Amino acid sequence: AAVVTINWNVTWVWAAPDGFGRPVIGINNQWPCPKIEAKVGDTLIVNLHNGLGNQTTGIHWHGINQLQTPEMDGPSGVVQCPTPPGSSVQYKFLLDEPGTFWYHSHEKGQYPDGLRGPLIVQDPNDPYKGRYDEEIIVTVSDWYHSQSIPLVQNMLSPANTRFAPPFPDTILVNDKKDVKFNFVKGKTYRVRLINMSAFASAFLWIDSHPLTMIMSDATYLQTETAYQLHASSAQRYDFLISAIDRDSGNYPMLLALDINRDFRNASLAPAFPHNQTAWLVMDESAPFTRPTNNIDVWRPADDTHFKPLDNQAMIPAYDHLVKLDFRFCLDANGYPRACLNGKPFISQKVPALYTAATVGTNNTNPIVYGQINPIIVKKGDIVQLVINNQEAAGHPFHLHGHRFQILDRARPYAGDWPGRDVNYNPTPNKRDTVTVWSWSHAVLRFKAENPGVWLFHCHIEWHVEMGLTASFIEGPEQLRGKQFPADHLENCRIGGVPTRGNAAGNTVDPLDTTGMVT
Ligand code: C2O
Repeated sequence: AAVVTINWNVTWVWAAPDGFGRPVIGINNQWPCPKIEAKVGDTLIVNLHNGLGNQTTGIHWHGINQLQTPEMDGPSGVVQCPTPPGSSVQYKFLLDEPGTFWYHSHEKGQYPDGLRGPLIVQDPNDPYKGRYDEEIIVTVSDWYHSQSIPLVQNMLSPANTRFAPPFPDTILVNDKKDVKFNFVKGKTYRVRLINMSAFASAFLWIDSHPLTMIMSDATYLQTETAYQLHASSAQRYDFLISAIDRDSGNYPMLLALDINRDFRNASLAPAFPHNQTAWLVMDESAPFTRPTNNIDVWRPADDTHFKPLDNQAMIPAYDHLVKLDFRFCLDANGYPRACLNGKPFISQKVPALYTAATVGTNNTNPIVYGQINPIIVKKGDIVQLVINNQEAAGHPFHLHGHRFQILDRARPYAGDWPGRDVNYNPTPNKRDTVTVWSWSHAVLRFKAENPGVWLFHCHIEWHVEMGLTASFIEGPEQLRGKQFPADHLENCRIGGVPTRGNAAGNTVDPLDTTGMVT
C-alpha cells in the first residue's frame, strides 16, 4: 500500500461554467477541483492551505469510514476547528474500502461555492474487473449564481416563512453546461455517477442504453438492470453500459434535477426545468438528433431493493433504538430552522470530539455537548435508527463513519414508523445516504464499532445550515484521552488552551460567517 500525498491551496477563482461568471472556490488556482484517485489500502495525506483570505474552511471525505481517525472526518465544530484564512491543516487517513466517493467542504454551507470533487478508490480485486474496458466519472450538480453566504442568510431570515431553500439557477454535468463523452462502439464502460448537488436529487436516463448496476455508494451490488436512476445529493452509483454498435448515432444522456417531488404518483415528470443533456458520442460526424426530452414519466429503480453482492443478511436484532422526527420549526425569535425531535442543531465552537476526549467520565452525559442533538451509543451496540419525515418533501439522510443497512424505506405518505417490524428486507442494501420520502419513514441499522463523533444529517446542504443535524457520540469510553494534531484545534484555543463544550455556552450563531473565537 502506498502513501498518496497531495498539496492543496484553497483559493477563489473566477469561473463561468454555464456562461455566468462568478467567483468559485477552487484548488491550486483551478476549478473544477481535481479528482483524487488512489488504491484501497493506501493512506491519503492532504496538506491543505486556506488561501481564501475571507472564509474559514474544512474538508469532509464523504463515505470514507475513518476507522480510528474520527478527527480526520472534517466537519467544523464536530471533529475539528475550522481552518482560518492563512492557516494550514493536514488530513491523513486510510482508504479502507474501494468505491466511488467524493470530498466536499463541511464548513458553513460552503461546498455549493464549488469546493467539491471526486475521490475514487480503485480495487485491484474488483469483482467486476474484466466486465468493462474503461471507466468515466459523471458528476451532476445544481448550480447557483449567488455565493452561498447570502443564500444562507436569506434562507434563515424570518421572512422565509415557508422554509424555502435557495433555488438553483442551473444544472452542471462534470462542472460544464454541455458535456460530450467520447465512446467507442462495442466497448463497455463503467460509469461512476456522483451527485454533488447542494439541494437537488437528479434523474438519469441514457437513450437506448440500459444500466447494469454494480455499486451504490461503496457497496458492491449483485448486477441488476436499471433504466432510470434517482440519485440524491451525495449518492453515488456505479453502472456498466455497453456502447451500442449497430448504427452510427449519438445518444443523449438525460440528467434532470428533481426538486423534491413528493412521489405520491408513479408518474414523475421532473418539476424543474433545468434538464441537462450530455451526449454519448460515438461518431462526431453523425447528427446529434435523437430526442433529448422524451421522458415524461420517471420510474427510477428503487435503490433500497438492490442486493449487496456479499448477500449480507439483515442484522437480526438491535440494542439501541434511536428515533428522530424531522420537521421544520421556528426558533424563539421566529427564525426558520429544521428540527430533529423538536430541536435544531447548533454548532459548537469547540469540536464535540474534543469534548468527548477531555471531559473524562462526563463524556457519556449528553449535557456536555451543548445543542448538537447528541446521541450517545456504546461501542459494539447495534443501533436501529428510525427517521420519521414529517414534512412534504423527500430528504436524503447521511451518516458519517458508517454505511447502514436500509431495512425499510416506506412509500410516500406512509406516515411515521409504526413501532414494529413490517416489511423488512432480509438482505438489505447498505448505503451512506438514503432518501426518506415525504410524510414517511425509513428504518436503518448499523453496528457502532467505530468510536468517534459522527454527524447524521440531511445532505441538502441548505438544511445542514438550518440545523437538520444530529451527532452520534459513538464509543465515548474509547474516546477518553484521545489526542489531536494541533493544527486541527488551532482555531478553538482561548488563552492558549482549547476550551470545552458545555451546556451553558460555546455555541455559535448560525449566521456568524467568521468562524473565529474571540
Ligand atoms: Cu457529504 Cu456531512 O456530508
